This record gives sequence, structure tokens and C-alpha cells, in this order.
Amino acid sequence: MTPGHESEVGRCIFREAHDAILIVQPGSLRVVDANPSAQRISGYRRKQLLDLTLQELMESANAEDFSTLSRACESTSCFVSKDGYHLKTVAGARVPIHLSISRIHTEPEPMGLLIARDITKQTQAEEERRKLELQMQQSQRLESLGVMAGGVAHDFNNLLTGILGNAELAGFNLPEDAPMRAHLDQIIVTTHRAADLVRQLLAYSGHARTQMKPLRLAQLVREITQLLRVSTSRNVVMNYRLDPEGPVCKGDPVQLSQVIMNLVVNAAEAIGSKPGIVTLATRVQHCDRALLGSCYLDDQLPEGSYACLEVTDTGCGMDSATLARIFEPFFTTKFVGRGLGLSAVLGIIRGHQGAIQIESAPGKGCTFRVYIPTTDEPVPAPVRPVPSDVAWRGGGWVLVVDDEKSVRLAARELLERLGFQVALANDGEEGLQTYVQKAKLVRAVLVDWAMPRMNGTEMARELRKLGAKLPVIITSGFDENVAMKTFEPGEITAFLQKPYSSEELRALLSKSLPSWNA
Ligand SMILES: Nc1ncnc2c1ncn2[C@@H]1O[C@H](COP(=O)(O)OP(=O)(O)OP(=O)(O)O)[C@@H](O)[C@H]1O
Ligand SMILES: [Mg+2]
Repeated sequence: MTPGHESEVGRCIFREAHDAILIVQPGSLRVVDANPSAQRISGYRRKQLLDLTLQELMESANAEDFSTLSRACESTSCFVSKDGYHLKTVAGARVPIHLSISRIHTEPEPMGLLIARDITKQTQAEEERRKLELQMQQSQRLESLGVMAGGVAHDFNNLLTGILGNAELAGFNLPEDAPMRAHLDQIIVTTHRAADLVRQLLAYSGHARTQMKPLRLAQLVREITQLLRVSTSRNVVMNYRLDPEGPVCKGDPVQLSQVIMNLVVNAAEAIGSKPGIVTLATRVQHCDRALLGSCYLDDQLPEGSYACLEVTDTGCGMDSATLARIFEPFFTTKFVGRGLGLSAVLGIIRGHQGAIQIESAPGKGCTFRVYIPTTDEPVPAPVRPVPSDVAWRGGGWVLVVDDEKSVRLAARELLERLGFQVALANDGEEGLQTYVQKAKLVRAVLVDWAMPRMNGTEMARELRKLGAKLPVIITSGFDENVAMKTFEPGEITAFLQKPYSSEELRALLSKSLPSWNA
């Protein structure tokens, strides 16, 4: 290229380039010329740009970076920036840029030639990719926790069935005022708490059973106020701002009660032993993009009307480092915390296509808002539970099939107390043989779902093939949803979640065998 061409090419590039090109004075870093793209990107007119220095026009993560730029204007080698530089537009926006700087030999003195590339699109794409990666990691974690929770739930619930059954049986044989009774009651309460822990894990992993129906949040809160009272210490004042005609949303009452409980317990724990207030409010809220954007789980949620549950406390609050981690399973700042409460809340709200918003600062208390889409469906009239008949007794044979010895034995004793005779079997195959031997006598079958050799699903199917018309009750430490998927309609009569109490067993049998008068 001849020198004439060179200057023409240079002028053309300066005029037409998509990137911003600035000529700056080394030392002062004052702009002495700017191309049309520099004006377009910054929003300044050329004249305005010539009044500015790079320090005024740009922003860098590090103030020292400007001396690097200044040196680059004087250096013979080309400088290429790393990320972290922004161009400040006339409207006050920050445009991320990549810089390359070289010295050009102009008369009477050399100048710096600065090319700024607008990398907004790349930055957004990178941000998007990072977000996707995080979501992937999160869902992989959920997946593996789900598998683990499912397995733990099964083994754990089997053990708990044995513990609960035996503790209850021991209680039955004790006089009412025996000192031992308090210890047994404690075992029973603790067993229920352990079962609750498994439910939290299942809720977090999204593997828990859901039964969605239209409900009023205010009503739900009211129903569990007593429970909330006993779960918080006396120094905490509970304050309710419930809107009784307020929002109706579609939700699982058991799971949403768990959300309310977990949030209120956390709020009370944040208050500690000092006096404090926990306020629970419900209302309808129109959620626009901006509001949803400030929430967790806002990804594809549509704008619109949401039922809002707000739990505010006057407790210790959180710093940003804690806030960033609160939903991680097993993250806790408490001495005896398990770090599962909010993980479960997140899992449940995700299952309800909802969102969570948090405001907190150290020493300033904390507000959690849960948003769940409202529904136009009417709230069904409450079903009055039929009081179970405590005097109900059964009779005849019940076949109990379970591969866990402690479960078999506890079930046998519980059933015998109800007046049944009990046949036991280790697995489905043995269960079928026993059934055939006693076919005329067996009135109901209580079968574990997961067993070696022949499982509960296969056994129930075989029983129906043999023409058995009796109630088949499936019991499992696995979640009902998981187990029930394996059955055809009509194959089984009921599902009994382990661990079960003698009361639950009795209620279910009295429903399944209503006409026994032996
Ligand atoms: N209302 C609140 N105020 C201050 N910090 C909170 C509040 N709620 C939650 N946190 C913080 O979030 C952490 C995680 O809460 P999360 O409920 O998941 O677990 P935990 O309460 O520590 O244990 P767990 O609920 O399993 O007994 C808490 O340890 C605490 O640091
Ligand atoms: Mg908690």
C-alpha cells in the first residue's frame, strides 16, 4: 500500500468502523478526535466528546487501569484490554467494552489510537450461559438429592415403622400412670419428627406427594396458628394481618403449611431470646416483570395476579454472604440447624410455579414473600372428617407381607390388638403361597411395596389374577406418588405411608373392612 492509500484507508476505517475510535493525547488522555461510532455508542456529539478525558468517558473496575492506558498510548506495542472497562453514555448507561490501544505517529506529536468494541451482546450471552450453567448444576444437585432422599426415605421410614410400632405397643401394656410412659411418648414424638425430616428432604427434591386444590392462604394460616404458637418461644409475639376474603391459589395444603412453618420458625429463631415480633400477612399482589425479576425462581413465570404470603421478623437479619447461600441444602448458620428448612421451601414453591422474594440486612430483620399464582376456581367446601371409631375392632386373618422383620413383628402385634389373627410372609412369593393356603380365611392383605423376589406390585397383580376380592393395602417408606404409579386402577385398595401409627392402621382397616361383625 502506498502512503497515499494508507491515509485514505485510515480515513475510511475511521469513518465507517462499527467500533468506537478515539484519538487521545498521551498523558492527559484527552479526546482529540472521535469517529461517528463513538458518537453513536456514547450518545455524545463530537464536540462534546472533545471536551472529555478517558477518565470522564470511561469506567474501569480499577482506577490504576487509566495509568496503564496512558502508558499504552506511548508504547510501541499494541495494548489489548481485559474485561472490566465500561463506556459511560450521555444518558448515564454503562456499555461494556473491549479496548485496544496503539501509538500513532502524528505531527507534531504522537497520539494514542483507541478502539473500543461494544461487547454488550457477548456479555449478555456470557451471562445467559452462566445462568444456564448454574441452573443445570442446581437441577443436577436436585436430581441427586432426589435419588438420595428417595433411598433414605425408604430405609429410614422402615426403621421408624419398627420404632413407632414398638413404642406404641410398649405403651399399651403400661398402666396409665407408669413413669416409663413419658419416655415412650418422647420416643413417639421424636419418631414423628424424624419422619418429618424425611418429608423435608423429599419436598426439597420435588419428589414429595402433592395434592393441589384451590385454597385461601389466610384460611391456611389461621388453621395452623396453634401449631405456630407452640413452635415459637414465648418472647415472640405473633402478629397476623390476614385478608379473610383474600387470595385463592392452587396449592397443596400440607406442603404450604410446611412453608409457613419453616418461615415462621426461622423468623422466631432469628429473634432468639430477646422480645420480638413475627408478622404474617396475606394479600393479592399484581406481579410485573420487575417484581418477578427480583425474586428467586422468576424464570418463566408470567406477569399477573399472585397470592402473597409475607413473613416479617424483627430478628438479626442477614448479610449478603448469608443471603447468597440460604437456599443451599445443608447451609445453616445455627448450632443445631440442619439447613433444610429453606431448601424445602424452595422445592415446594418451585412445585407451585411460584416465586420467593427476600429483603434483609444485618440487624434490620427480615421479610420473606412467597408468591403463588391465583386461580379463579372456587374453594371447595370443607369436608368434615368422619370421626374414626376408636372402639372399632376387627376379626379374621390379615396377611402381612414385608421383608423387614421389625416391621412384620410390630404390624402383627398392632393387628392382634385390633382383634385380627395375623399371618406373616417375607416377600411376595411367600405371601402368595400363604394366601393360597388360607384363601378362605384371609380378609385383608397388608403388603410392602419394595421387596426382593416378588414386590408388592407383582403380588397385588397375582392376587387379582387368582380372583382375590379382598382389600389389598400397600405400605411403603417410599413416597405414595412413586409407588402408586406402578399400579393399575382397582389393583389395590389403599396406600399406607410408613411409618404408620396404630391409629392410622386402625382407621384404614375400619374403612376397608366396614362390615365385619365377627
Ligand atoms: N428470618 C431469618 N432471619 C435471619 N436469617 C435467616 C432467616 N431465615 C433463614 N435465615 C438464614 O438462613 C439459613 C438457612 O435457613 P434454613 O431454614 O434452610 O436452615 P436452618 O434454619 O439453619 O435449619 P433447619 O431449618 O433445617 O432447622 C439459616 O441458618 C439462617 O442463617
Ligand atoms: Mg430453618
